[in-house]
Amino acid sequence: MLYVPPGFSMLRRLRCTRCGRTYDPGRLNTVCPSCGGVLYPEYDLEPVSRSLFEGRPWSMGLWKHHELLPIKNPENIVSLGEGGTPLIKASRLASKLGLRSLYIKDESLNPTGMFKARGISVALSKALELGVHTVGIPSAGNAGAALAAYAARAGVKAVIVMPEDTPRSIVREAEAYEAEIILVKGSITEAGRMLMELKKTVEFFDLSTFKEPYRIEGKKTMGFEIAEQLGWRMPDVIVYPTGGGTGLLGIWKGLGELVSAGILEGSMPRMISVQSEGCKPIVEAFRKGLSRAEPYPNPRTIAAGIRVPAPYADYLILRVLRESGGTAVSVSDERILEAAKEMAVTEGVFPCPEGAATLAGLRELIDQGLVDRDESIVLINTGAGVKYMDAYAEAGLLP
Ligand SMILES: Cc1ncc(COP(=O)(O)O)c(C=O)c1O
Ligand SMILES: [Zn+2]
Repeated sequence: MLYVPPGFSMLRRLRCTRCGRTYDPGRLNTVCPSCGGVLYPEYDLEPVSRSLFEGRPWSMGLWKHHELLPIKNPENIVSLGEGGTPLIKASRLASKLGLRSLYIKDESLNPTGMFKARGISVALSKALELGVHTVGIPSAGNAGAALAAYAARAGVKAVIVMPEDTPRSIVREAEAYEAEIILVKGSITEAGRMLMELKKTVEFFDLSTFKEPYRIEGKKTMGFEIAEQLGWRMPDVIVYPTGGGTGLLGIWKGLGELVSAGILEGSMPRMISVQSEGCKPIVEAFRKGLSRAEPYPNPRTIAAGIRVPAPYADYLILRVLRESGGTAVSVSDERILEAAKEMAVTEGVFPCPEGAATLAGLRELIDQGLVDRDESIVLINTGAGVKYMDAYAEAGLLP
């Protein structure tokens, strides 16, 4: 028998975000069997403290917060060094925009150049802990590449379905790890459908966004890190490029856990979703006062990662935007390209188009008077611009 350190994870139960039923996390779970709602892990928060986390080096990455992550036995962790990314004070950009306090959480420093590594590392580790050998995922691109890498690292098989017009460099990256890759016409919605079809003949565990409870756990560590990096304070505003909503909901969940644990005080930030003009189901639903989003027709945008026309957790995203006093804004691809250039030139951070969308979104918020110039604002750059060289070149951003 392997030695399992007691208290490595304080995971206690899973709770349905829709009907409130609870489930045993010792079993392999997907969504709520009763109502189809998204399941959220809950922890015993007692043992955590500021000094516990502060006493650990950033080189531990997101595993610095292992008590609040679901892996019971550290032997099961599949890691490539995810998390522990810098929060960059963007002073030059701030003064250009007339703001006092602007930061970029730069997720491009993650393995595979993407924040996706966080969710995939935690979800794959937990699936392996629960006895899974093969995993599958539909992806707008980046989660697929991340899963391909982590599956290779773990020596397990991964089936990845992506839209055929996913940026070529991302597909090729996923291919480099020799995962099984299937390209389909359409968006991540069609990729998800294809994965469901495959389930009839191939056995694998489905790691689709919010169809299992643990990808969000990796993402919530962005919230833990931002809080500690700001000296255990919360920013006033967090701007997030929203596709499936894992990062937005994760950051909110992470900050909420720190508040419940008594190690973070003050008002929760206003959460802002940025979407593209070509795919904005959340923006539309928010504007119309709806609690569910309608599937967005003919989704198109250079920001492939936020081309998610029908997010499964729409009701949670909309709930958090409203509860936090935030909002949802959309930006054109043209503005996204300008913002990518501006972030690169002004701060030396060359963002992926999704990350650039947060800066374009911030400009929109300033124009609409929705942020105060004295507020502290965090933009989440979800990944590296270098992964989109082909797409950027095609769009005329690069020579
Ligand atoms: C670069 C990038 N940013 C943002 C997102 C949106 O992810 P989510 O809203 O699920 O956190 C994605 C998803 O594919 C992505 O690849
Ligand atoms: Zn339920």
